[in-house]
Amino acid sequence: MPSLTPLLALLALTSTTTLAKPLARDEPVTFALTDINYSSNMVYSTPAHLATYGGTIQFNVTNNAPAAVPYVTKCSAYGRHLQDMFYGEIVYTCEQPVGAAGSTTFTFSRPDNSFAVNQTWTDYNGKTWFGQGSGKADLKCKSETWQNANWTMGQLYSTYTTTCETGSVTIVPTVVAV
Ligand SMILES: *[C@@H]1O[C@H](CO)[C@@H](O)[C@H](O)[C@H]1NC(C)=O
Ligand SMILES: *[C@@H]1O[C@H](CO)[C@@H](O)[C@H](O)[C@H]1NC(C)=O
Ligand SMILES: *[C@@H]1O[C@H](CO)[C@@H](O)[C@H](O)[C@H]1NC(C)=O
Ligand SMILES: *[C@@H]1O[C@H](CO)[C@@H](O)[C@H](O)[C@H]1NC(C)=O
Repeated sequence: MPSLTPLLALLALTSTTTLAKPLARDEPVTFALTDINYSSNMVYSTPAHLATYGGTIQFNVTNNAPAAVPYVTKCSAYGRHLQDMFYGEIVYTCEQPVGAAGSTTFTFSRPDNSFAVNQTWTDYNGKTWFGQGSGKADLKCKSETWQNANWTMGQLYSTYTTTCETGSVTIVPTVVAV
């Protein structure tokens, strides 16, 4: 039974957290988005030809719902919508840890670094919840242009790269029982 071990580990974690924070029901649920990492690049093979382009967004979500969600959910997506790669129009599904119930989805819009996150989870009483919220991260980004000074056909002409320091944002979702 290879799938039992992570489940037992999860149960053990759940009860530990329960003891640490007994019945803290008044605490609002929050989704903490941490290690937010955005980068993008555009590569021109000639002055007029954009050969490749795309951006990646990655972050972790921790749901502090009292005692209920003892795991971290990893989210990532690849965007290819010029110029900012992500405009909040596509819903991406995060990677739920093995053995964890529920699901997490998000949208990201690069122009204002805003995130919308939905998550369903099951608490230690077996009750399932749905939370929905959004927030903006304060990402510190820089863009760099490299241009081939002596370009000839067949070489890269230029690259335009944006990278950001990792950031975070805490979202207070609206929560309903499912
Ligand atoms: C951020 O993402 C880029 C591209 O995926 C990766 O190379 C880099 O290691 C990541 N940085 C961190 C701090 O995770
Ligand atoms: C959080 O995200 C970083 C970068 O993507 C990753 O290396 C790390 O393992 C994550 N942390 C957890 C607890 O999953
Ligand atoms: C969150 O759920 C609402 C209601 O079902 C839906 O309209 C919205 O598109 C969802 N957003 C994400 C990021 O999944
Ligand atoms: C530019 O390329 C030409 C043709 O390959 C070469 O003759 C010239 O020396 C190069 N100039 C520089 C500044 O690299």
